[in-house]
Amino acid sequence: MDSSDLVAASIAITSYRRKSPGLGGLSLRTNELICDNLDDEAVSKPAEQFILSSKMNEWDRDSTISILDYFQDPMITAYGKLDQDWFNEGESFALASSNTPQMQLDEAIKRRRSVRRYTGDPIDQSDLSSLLRYSSGITGKANVARSDGNEEVYYYRAVSSGGGLYPVEVYVAVKKVKGLPSGIYRYSPRNDALVVSGGEDDVSGLMAGLSVSDDQLNIDGASVVFILVGVPWRSMRKYGSRGLRFVFHEVGAISENIQLVSAALGIGATDCSSYYDDVVNQALGLDGQHKFVADLVIAGIPA
Ligand SMILES: Cc1cc2nc3c(=O)[nH]c(=O)nc-3n(C[C@H](O)[C@H](O)[C@H](O)COP(=O)(O)O)c2cc1C
Repeated sequence: MDSSDLVAASIAITSYRRKSPGLGGLSLRTNELICDNLDDEAVSKPAEQFILSSKMNEWDRDSTISILDYFQDPMITAYGKLDQDWFNEGESFALASSNTPQMQLDEAIKRRRSVRRYTGDPIDQSDLSSLLRYSSGITGKANVARSDGNEEVYYYRAVSSGGGLYPVEVYVAVKKVKGLPSGIYRYSPRNDALVVSGGEDDVSGLMAGLSVSDDQLNIDGASVVFILVGVPWRSMRKYGSRGLRFVFHEVGAISENIQLVSAALGIGATDCSSYYDDVVNQALGLDGQHKFVADLVIAGIPA
């Protein structure tokens, strides 16, 4: 079936909208068809269900108990402690010193634009360091009193995070960075290091998962791809379904910081949600559910 068949099929199916007695039996459903039939039992509505199931209400005792249990149930505390992104570090490189952006914040905010064309030249390691540190690096620490009365050292980062649980990990696919071999690395904020996670083949595997044409977005010319990986249970263990909202919140914050620092350093960057999830998750060795690619930010020297 080619794309014109698909368009014809979707038009034919869309003509059944609302009146269709056989809605439950249709296999192709456009988003429009789903939207028009939200009151029909036959149509699954995962997005709406997610919004409803992640609501907080005054009478919601389940959530209150879960949140209190987080520091009091030894199993949950143990899982929470083990599920932190500085565990199981492998071969790693200390991050180079940063190139501190000199631009005023208001100027960087005004200049930020999605930049989709790149020269193909490498970026400096110091620029990569700035992009990682100012988007997800550790910026301070403090002793914090927990709800169970104990104290814990909290490591604060460049972005806010519900409960300080940081359910987003930043990987970077290095295509062209001066002095750094091409490959996939995970940024470890706690160790301020790049942990080797894959080789050049995995970078190619990731690129094969992008569903954009070169006219739309010049990925061939890009120097790096930041891969924002959601680890939902890190938040959901404490906050239930609502914790998934925190993943997307944090992805947006990290992406925005990458884009503002890019603007200040003269690097071009754009969010890219046009990717085939299974392909990119596989390139990173993620199961796609407990750990999944939630966003990509493509960056390079602006053409
Ligand atoms: C969640 C998200 C996903 C996006 N995905 C893509 C994408 O796949 N391809 C692309 O070229 N731009 C993508 N963009 C960039 C938007 O098109 C861009 O932000 C918008 O047109 C506004 O332009 P500006 O960023 O220059 O202000 C995405 C932006 C966001 C926030």
